[in-house]
Formats: sequence, C-alpha cells, structure tokens
Amino acid sequence: MKKIALITLLSLSVLFSIGLVFNPHKAIGSKETRNAGKSMPLPDSVLQFVKKTCMDCHADDGNFMAKGKVNFSVWDKYDSEKQQDKAKQICKELTKKSMPTGKWRKNNPDKLPTQADIDMMCRWANNLQN
Ligand code: HEC
Repeated sequence: MKKIALITLLSLSVLFSIGLVFNPHKAIGSKETRNAGKSMPLPDSVLQFVKKTCMDCHADDGNFMAKGKVNFSVWDKYDSEKQQDKAKQICKELTKKSMPTGKWRKNNPDKLPTQADIDMMCRWANNLQN
C-alpha cells in the first residue's frame, strides 16, 4: 500500500514539473493575467494610411527622431499598453494636424490626411482601448 502511494506521489510531481517546463507563464501566473489586453496588428485600412502618410519617417528606414516615438515597422512587437498609448497619441496628433510635419505637408500635398482618414484613425485608436 505504502509503495503505491509513493509511486502515485512521484508520478504526480513529475507531471507537475512537466507542466512547469512546458507552460511557464501560466504556472508563474504573472504577465498574461495582469496584462489582459492583447497586442494587435494594424488593420489593413490603418496600415495603408500610415504607409502613405507616416512611414517616410516612422519606420525602420525613416527619421531617427520619428521612429523613436512611433515605429510602424515594429508595431506588432509593441505590447498592448504601448499600442494603446501610441494609438491615442496618433489620433491626437492627427486631430491637431501636427502630423505629418509642416515640411512634409508642403512636399506631399497630394498625400495629406483627409478628415475621413483622421476619423478612421481615431475610431481605430478608440477601439484599441479596453
Ligand atoms: C517628415 C517626417 C514625419 C512624418 C511624415 C510623420 N511624422 Fe510623426 N514625427 C516626426 C518626428 C521627427 C517626430 C518626433 C519629434 C516630435 O515629436 O515632433 C514625430 C513624432 C510623432 C509622434 C509623437 C508625438 C509626441 O508628442 O511624442 C506621433 C504620435 C506621430 N509623430 C505620429 C505621426 C503620424 C500618425 C504620422 C502620419 C499621419 C506622422 N507622424 C508622420 C516626423 C514625421
């Protein structure tokens, strides 16, 4: 009887350790549960707009200062909190018409954001909020 109990206990602890190894996040229970929101890829409409209007600067091969603030090339790697934060800023900059920058506006009059673009971007930004 004792032996069986011991074997049961041993196999249970082996199973438990396997669980720890293969599912460390759940076992430790930190990040995933705290950070309930998931990071989201850019929807097509947003991607098309930022490619045309923002990624001359806000991309890996863009402007150093700009990509330090928002880099659409690595958007998918931002965690959900950062994405929400940046999306809010993006809506604000667009609404104030302070992005794209003045010089870019002058050089690209055919690519300026329309009111419909701005509305679409802010709707997206608001939908990212929890
Ligand atoms: C000509 C280059 C250029 C283009 C095009 C451009 N930006 Fe920027 N952007 C910058 C630079 C440089 C900065 C950093 C300096 C600053 O904050 O003014 C910046 C900063 C920002 C910031 C951070 C502002 C803050 O307060 O920290 C946001 C958000 C932003 N841009 C959004 C956009 C969006 C959205 C677009 C497209 C609609 C866009 N930008 C297009 C150059 C650009």
